[in-house]
Amino acid sequence: MTQSATSPGTHLVTGATGFIGAAVVLELLERTRDDIVAIVRPGKTSAEDRFRDAIGRAAEAYASPVDLPSALARCRVVAGDIAREGCGVEAPNIGAVAQVWHCAASLRYEDRYAAEIHATNVEGTRHVLAFSSSLGAETFNYVSTAYVAGRSTGVIREQPLPGVPANNCYEASKQEAERIVLATVGPRVRVFRPSVVVGHSRTLAATTFSGYYGFVRQLMQFRGMIERVQAGLLGRTSLLLRIDSDAAINLVPVDKVAREAVAIALMPTSEGVFHLTHRSPPGIGLAIRTVFAMLGLHEPTFVRDADELGWLDSRLDQRLEFYRSYITADRRFDRSRTDAALGATQSTDAEYDGAAIAALGRWYLARLEAQRAALPVAR
Ligand SMILES: NC(=O)c1ccc[n+]([C@@H]2O[C@H](COP(=O)([O-])OP(=O)(O)OC[C@H]3O[C@@H](n4cnc5c(N)ncnc54)[C@H](OP(=O)(O)O)[C@@H]3O)[C@@H](O)[C@H]2O)c1
Repeated sequence: MTQSATSPGTHLVTGATGFIGAAVVLELLERTRDDIVAIVRPGKTSAEDRFRDAIGRAAEAYASPVDLPSALARCRVVAGDIAREGCGVEAPNIGAVAQVWHCAASLRYEDRYAAEIHATNVEGTRHVLAFSSSLGAETFNYVSTAYVAGRSTGVIREQPLPGVPANNCYEASKQEAERIVLATVGPRVRVFRPSVVVGHSRTLAATTFSGYYGFVRQLMQFRGMIERVQAGLLGRTSLLLRIDSDAAINLVPVDKVAREAVAIALMPTSEGVFHLTHRSPPGIGLAIRTVFAMLGLHEPTFVRDADELGWLDSRLDQRLEFYRSYITADRRFDRSRTDAALGATQSTDAEYDGAAIAALGRWYLARLEAQRAALPVAR
């Protein structure tokens, strides 16, 4: 076990019940002897139970080598809600905190949730920053997204991106939150920008399902809807799909995101923006053809213009609105700062070829099937 430079220190984490937050907590528990304090919303069960359950599920999903009982003994859970002033934490008795990891966010994107998205992602980030400052934390690690790039195309640098138009209210909220974090005076600030985060590089497992999984779900729902009206149609008909088939889609496994973020955070002097992205992402055309084949859909035909779409194609086009910026814009995420910070410690990226993309999808379909099988049978 490697000790962190500041070990034994304390890390305050938000979003620890989520996909990236749980992976970051596991990585910190694995790589350091440090303590963790997690701010977690109570739900059907207590904040403490939700945290333990999430970390236990992530450890199992990723076949983590960490000794869970002793690792969990280094964790403390505080009930809170980042959308509230003071993060809704009553009588904070947290003690000294070395690093804050702000991973919590709303990953909704539809306009009807705009108020909740703003309250969580923008006001929530202000609250976590203020809370962090009240604890005297030396470092603020913020999990942003590579898609703060909004409508920009081409090479995206690891630097602030002022004034870039966003594609939706989620991106706009993440842009605003990033601006607030980067303008903060006081703590050392790191902004981590992952791309589309997918399951673990070895086990393929994920614990929450946005991004790639949301895209697969949309296609499944569309398939189900059409099947009810005309069975077999989508196996025979090539849908026209509006994408830029030369563009890349940047998928990155959750363990790589956590490993790189924690490795950078354990370097006492690193700060600024870091792209946690894949070095050689697959083309969007390959990724989409693979997902269509996996779902038993006829290979699609790629077009550039909405004018070329027929009635059926347009129905699918509308469903994929959120994914438009991922499938029509060619962006290359420069990782010079990340690579320079990681130096010799970095590992090579496993390629996302058709087989690897299909394997991720099959893992997800098997999980959905297992969940369906576990539902009580309707009488
Ligand atoms: N997943 C991706 O592909 C991806 C890609 C790029 C960037 N990101 C960024 O990475 C970060 C984490 O994303 P994720 O995929 O881990 O999302 P996730 O699985 O949906 O987890 C979101 C986390 O935020 C917590 N949260 C939300 N609202 C909260 C509130 N009001 N108070 C306290 N906690 C709250 C959730 O807690 P509950 O369990 O209580 O809901 C959960 O722990 C986000 O900032 C996201 O923008 C994600």
